[in-house]
Amino acid sequence: MVTAVSANLEPIAEYADLETYRHVFFASPDYIAFSRWKDGTYIDVNPGFEQFTGVRREDAIGRTAEDLGSWVELADRDAYVAALRVTGILNGYQTRLRNHCGEIRDVETSSRVSKINGEKVVISIVRDITDRKRDENELRRYREELERLVELRTAELRRANEELRETNAKLEQAHNQLLQTEKMASIGVLAAGVAHEINNPVGFVSSNLSTLKSYIQDLLKVIDIYGQHHEVFEQAPERLKAIEAVKTDIDLDYLMEDIDALLNESADGLRRVKAIVQSLKDFSHAGRGEWQWANVHAGIDSTLNVVNNEIKYKATVVKEYGVLPDIECLPLELNQVFMNMLVNAAHAIDRAGEIRIRTGVEQDKVWVEFIDNGCGISSADLTRIFDPFFTTKPVGKGTGLGLSLSYGIIQKHHGRIEVDSVPGKGTCFRIWLPVSQPAAASP
Ligand SMILES: Nc1ncnc2c1ncn2[C@@H]1O[C@H](COP(=O)(O)OP(=O)(O)OP(=O)(O)O)[C@@H](O)[C@H]1O
Ligand SMILES: [Mg+2]
Repeated sequence: MVTAVSANLEPIAEYADLETYRHVFFASPDYIAFSRWKDGTYIDVNPGFEQFTGVRREDAIGRTAEDLGSWVELADRDAYVAALRVTGILNGYQTRLRNHCGEIRDVETSSRVSKINGEKVVISIVRDITDRKRDENELRRYREELERLVELRTAELRRANEELRETNAKLEQAHNQLLQTEKMASIGVLAAGVAHEINNPVGFVSSNLSTLKSYIQDLLKVIDIYGQHHEVFEQAPERLKAIEAVKTDIDLDYLMEDIDALLNESADGLRRVKAIVQSLKDFSHAGRGEWQWANVHAGIDSTLNVVNNEIKYKATVVKEYGVLPDIECLPLELNQVFMNMLVNAAHAIDRAGEIRIRTGVEQDKVWVEFIDNGCGISSADLTRIFDPFFTTKPVGKGTGLGLSLSYGIIQKHHGRIEVDSVPGKGTCFRIWLPVSQPAAASP
């Protein structure tokens, strides 16, 4: 490899005598030849030439490279001569020559056309670069192989990294699911506990109320009879007056009329408490992680009772239920979805809104729509609402897990969720669920 080339090519005068140049000529391991420009016959050649061509100096002089069979092809010679003719000087020109064994060797030549004793001659220095070239090729091959291996390894690493990322995402999803299921399980336990606690007092209040009703009816009968025997008190007008005063004071006629209504209203209230207790029980006993045939409306209704507190001050709920068959599902998990839909709808409404729940069936699928007239979702957010932890709610109000978990649950049911939203107008989430699960998923 040439690392530096001097710009000053003038010989240093005191050393530039013939003896010095003769030494260079004879000692050089490269092959050096002087030949006539007009016919290419050698004038002189050095030992380097003899070694390469296998032709002795005295045999070479007067003959040409072509005579010695040095050129592999005459076209190579013509190209070399043509190149030399253009500038009269060649540096590092590469071509091929045959050596003393007849082997084709790669050579690099530096040649120049000069004048000696008035005659045009060519001085050529030729170096065999076959080994160097082979080493270079080998090196290049090694480098390419190395690069290929590095690329292969990088691709493997990238793949492993990708797998790791996927596993991580799955783990995170499973973790979130677990968290939500645990949350739902504790809500379930709480609901079951509350239901149980309310059930007892409701039981005895309800039985007492019906006893009270019959006692009051008896008492009213007694009062009625007193009223019918009004004339008994005519001899004692003072007592009659006192009785009349009390009757007026307490507004006996209205009281007798209202007692019945009060008792009926109380009985109705108790019936409603019982219905709520039943919903809580349904909600908490929806069967943990078991595939079963269940009624979607029952699931929505019991969930509505549980989240009623969250909704009632914000919106009225309008139900437009179709006729649905029971579906094969994980009811507790579907309740989680319904709960999230209802709470999201309530959160989207500022006040006095409406949440419409519609259901229907199409071929072998049922659909449930939760439509609200709340704030709606911007198109930028719409692409992200199913991402875990995406929330637009203030800290503490939303974790951003509801929809991602709902999505996972609906996927597990081989269904899908669609969403339409108009900012400022409202949102509709439509859930599609197959009536029966594909053979592999069902128990
Ligand atoms: N009915 C809706 N109307 C308007 N925006 C909604 C509605 N439902 C969901 N969103 C938007 O989607 C986001 C993500 O909802 P998601 O249920 O996943 O999380 P969250 O309700 O914020 O929190 P979490 O459900 O975990 O308590 C919400 O923060 C809200 O911006
Ligand atoms: Mg939510």
